[in-house]
Amino acid sequence: MKIFITGAAGFLGSHLADRMLELGHEVIGCDNYIGGYQDNVNHKMEFHHADCMDLAKMRELTKGCEIVYHCASTAYEGLSVFSPHFVTMNTYQITMSVLSASIENRVRRFVYCSSMARYGFLPVVPFTEEMTPMPLDPYGIAKLASENTIVNLAKVHNFEYAIAVPHNIIGARQKYDDPFRNVAAIMINLMLQGRQPIIYGDGEQKRNFSFVQDCIYCLEKMAFQDNVVGEVINIGPDDEFVTINELAQVIGKLLNMEVKPDYYPDRPMEVKHASCSADKARRLLNYKPNMTLEAGLTEMINYIKKRGVLPFEYHLDVEIKNDKTPKTWTNRLF
Ligand SMILES: NC(=O)c1ccc[n+]([C@@H]2O[C@H](COP(=O)([O-])OP(=O)(O)OC[C@H]3O[C@@H](n4cnc5c(N)ncnc54)[C@H](O)[C@@H]3O)[C@@H](O)[C@H]2O)c1
Repeated sequence: MKIFITGAAGFLGSHLADRMLELGHEVIGCDNYIGGYQDNVNHKMEFHHADCMDLAKMRELTKGCEIVYHCASTAYEGLSVFSPHFVTMNTYQITMSVLSASIENRVRRFVYCSSMARYGFLPVVPFTEEMTPMPLDPYGIAKLASENTIVNLAKVHNFEYAIAVPHNIIGARQKYDDPFRNVAAIMINLMLQGRQPIIYGDGEQKRNFSFVQDCIYCLEKMAFQDNVVGEVINIGPDDEFVTINELAQVIGKLLNMEVKPDYYPDRPMEVKHASCSADKARRLLNYKPNMTLEAGLTEMINYIKKRGVLPFEYHLDVEIKNDKTPKTWTNRLF
């Protein structure tokens, strides 16, 4: 089968490309390198350094494809209230060009990587797929708007779609020199440099972390099974709910380091407790996570040690700078 993967140099997209190649599929991939690493790219695929905004290019690359996995996005939830133009353009607008090209080329199934940010602030955890989402920031709003437009156009043009809602994925190949996102990767990169983790707020925010291979297991099924068509499915464990303080302590234990985090003010709109129910994934995808948090973090530590710790790269424009903008970014504290 011919499969197109956007964001193929990114964390999730590159692991997905590996898996699809392993299954014997012909894989076409693209990425503009805003977020991924060049060494994530599996050269057994036909890879294009291309921007998803380029509609003509998306039309060329989706030609003859049966499945499209749209993984590309600027997954910068915290930054999105300060750089709404950049984040929404590379989340909503690019989805429209990849979607339009896919429909034009009669792609059979469109698998969209949404995000738990779609839920936003809901008073009850864990979040289930039937709850009415209330996204709190431009990133979550753009993800939900993308989903809604996919549903809308599927009614008109009659293609299959499935929407994956992953959350807090960890593992090798995640960008770790990016000061704007990926809390576990940032902490490991800091602590391997002998520095203390930086935590926003009191660190009592709770999250579930999922291991990348467990997520790929679900994404694979979302392209090929009939029972997922038209479904939104949370992907990630609903046990091992940990605070950010606990996350820092677990990493400290694995690195044999005493942890005394540096605390900074809360970031605006950060959800305090976010956890998704995995019931639907268990029911439809037979989802059974195989990795514990400690095992996933160990793999990430080994990857960063092998690739080498890096200084943080302030590669993105913070569009709105005012008294609400985290000092960690304006004063480059990472
Ligand atoms: N990693 C997580 O914890 C997580 C959680 C929830 C949702 N997601 C979603 O899963 C998807 C993959 O996330 P990831 O963690 O692999 O992020 P990532 O940043 O590692 O990968 C995304 C890739 O998309 C590319 N990209 C961004 N804009 C592009 C554009 N305009 N044209 C071409 N390429 C572009 C980036 O360069 C990057 O390589 C994203 O849609 C993200 O929103 C991820």
